[in-house]
Amino acid sequence: MQYSQKVLDHFMKPHNLGKLEKANAEATEGSPACGDQVSIWLNVNEKTKIIEDIGFLSYGCASNIATASIITDMAKGKTIEEAKAISWKEAAAELDGLPPVKMHCSVLAVDTLRKAIKNYELAHHLIKADKGALNKEMVLAELAKILYPKVGEDLISLKMVKYAGVSEDGNVTVDVEIPKFDKFRENVAEEIREHLEKLPGVKDITINI
Ligand code: FES
Repeated sequence: MQYSQKVLDHFMKPHNLGKLEKANAEATEGSPACGDQVSIWLNVNEKTKIIEDIGFLSYGCASNIATASIITDMAKGKTIEEAKAISWKEAAAELDGLPPVKMHCSVLAVDTLRKAIKNYELAHHLIKADKGALNKEMVLAELAKILYPKVGEDLISLKMVKYAGVSEDGNVTVDVEIPKFDKFRENVAEEIREHLEKLPGVKDITINI
């Protein structure tokens, strides 16, 4: 696998590594695609809402460490609104690209940053808890109920789900990896659709299989 020099630099010498002593928000997220994990701590200025300090710990692959390192660099000094807008594509571009099979690593880093910001906003009553509203956890919980007929285990345990995301207006996107000529492809796609349609607030479902 070919990594850019920038990925290697951030992997060998990660920036902002470690838990913050004085954090006022944190989040830990895992990737359904590989089981890796990232934790991010924030120290947000209560008045200006600027992220004054940020730290991370990674329990995962080289791209996981490199993307967490770059994303914390990108977020530091930004307001929480600005930091929320950082996309995983920007993070990957900032690293001069990632191998296609490692793109989910940058998704994981961005998801974790956004979750930490959301936790800050919740704790400071800047947003309301959206109890019962559609979220990624609900989608993953549904996908964990779907068995891959060939093996008899669920899609999450088999690490077949490479990405699951929910947009604010209720569009659900799921990327599933199934061999091209697998006769169960259509069945699995249909079952995913049936399961996800039942969730509250779903407007549209895109299944990339
Ligand atoms: Fe899964 Fe990198 S985070 S392989």
